[in-house]
Amino acid sequence: MEQININIKHAIDLVGREAYEAVKPEVEAAKRHLVTGDAAGNDFLGWVDLPENLDPTIVGRIQADVARLAPKSKLFVVIGIGGSYLGARMVIEALQSEFASMVRGAHPYVVYAGHTLSEDYYSQLFALLDREDYSVVVISKSGTTTEPAVAFRLVKAHLENKYGRDEAASRIIAVTDAHRGALHEIGVQEGYPMYVIPDNVGGRFSVLTPVGLLPIAMAGYDIDRLLEGARDARRICLSSVPFDDNPALVYAAIRNVLYRGGKKIELMVSALPSLRYFAEWWKQLYGESEGKQGKGLMPHSISITTDLHSMGQYVQDGERLMMETMLLVKKPASHVAVPHDERNLDGINYLDGKSLTSINDCATMGTLLAHKDGGVPVVTIEVERIDEYTLGQLIYFFEFACGVSGYTLGVNPFDQPGVEAYKKNMFHLLGKPGF
Ligand code: PA5
Repeated sequence: MEQININIKHAIDLVGREAYEAVKPEVEAAKRHLVTGDAAGNDFLGWVDLPENLDPTIVGRIQADVARLAPKSKLFVVIGIGGSYLGARMVIEALQSEFASMVRGAHPYVVYAGHTLSEDYYSQLFALLDREDYSVVVISKSGTTTEPAVAFRLVKAHLENKYGRDEAASRIIAVTDAHRGALHEIGVQEGYPMYVIPDNVGGRFSVLTPVGLLPIAMAGYDIDRLLEGARDARRICLSSVPFDDNPALVYAAIRNVLYRGGKKIELMVSALPSLRYFAEWWKQLYGESEGKQGKGLMPHSISITTDLHSMGQYVQDGERLMMETMLLVKKPASHVAVPHDERNLDGINYLDGKSLTSINDCATMGTLLAHKDGGVPVVTIEVERIDEYTLGQLIYFFEFACGVSGYTLGVNPFDQPGVEAYKKNMFHLLGKPGF
């Protein structure tokens, strides 16, 4: 089993080992809170035991739904917002071709709704859905979130208009609470196949439930391998190996030390464009879990080398606010090398025959050293390759480290009271009864 490798050398050099050693007892106490459930937010710790405690019939049910819907669907619409879509999108975009929308595969191409209220977005989506056969999953834990509710009303009307009510109902799956919420009620009344989001799993920690597993399987990816990766990472995160052999504890410790040392922003850095939704998922996980009571590193992201030509100047030389976490991938899925050119008019024959990955690796290492010289502490997290197994490992690793880090920071990592403020204003402006 390949493990996630974390290296904090390029961060610790800038803060000193004493500060790191000093925070370890607090981090160990935070881990105990997660395991024993004796701290605030303990009613949302169901994810700690995923995927071990996943209902064993779920994968089979999902595979049966994929077998039923995939052959008659060119597109699969995933309706959800925040934790109800980012995990699935992160895995799918990490694994599919960058040009998947242009190339017809054996499985439906996944498109997203419910994460925006843009009229233009829906108008363009419906122009596409007019032409292509499709099915839908609508995902909302509360079953009452406005954005996916509006999207589902629109998509349901389109689907019923296109296929008639009965066929439309057979093309819709709902993922929601077991008992409560408008979506639960609609699902029961309309007889949709339904999956339950466990009570004790919050949205941003739900990718290893049907919330993530169903769309990922519908897109044609191996959810058994994803779960295997998560299971292996869980074993290490929960084990009693020495502190420095537990990558989740190391990550939680170093980011808290850097925060206490004055860093305000954490940049997730990757050299693979396919990981841009990985950064989006991670931003929600850490931003919503830690950004409260005036505390927390603000999660942000940059892509190498693309953003070195836009954000690179600030990171190198602007206000010293940030630390970086570089997600490194050892092996690419494919091989492309620089061809020889006799005339060398572009002057890059020194790169003759080199793979793009070896050039990208030099760019990444050059960036790491330059940013460190510029006073930016850099943590590296390395996996062998990007596939279902390593994505499963990364999901569990980042979730567990997030819980530990949030408790070390002194917040409840499992609530999100700040998300309500915009909703109250919006409901008032829209004239919703009671606001
Ligand atoms: O992490 C969370 O709990 C949130 O980001 C939710 O996932 C998001 O607000 C969507 O909520 P719901 O699934 O209830 O529609």
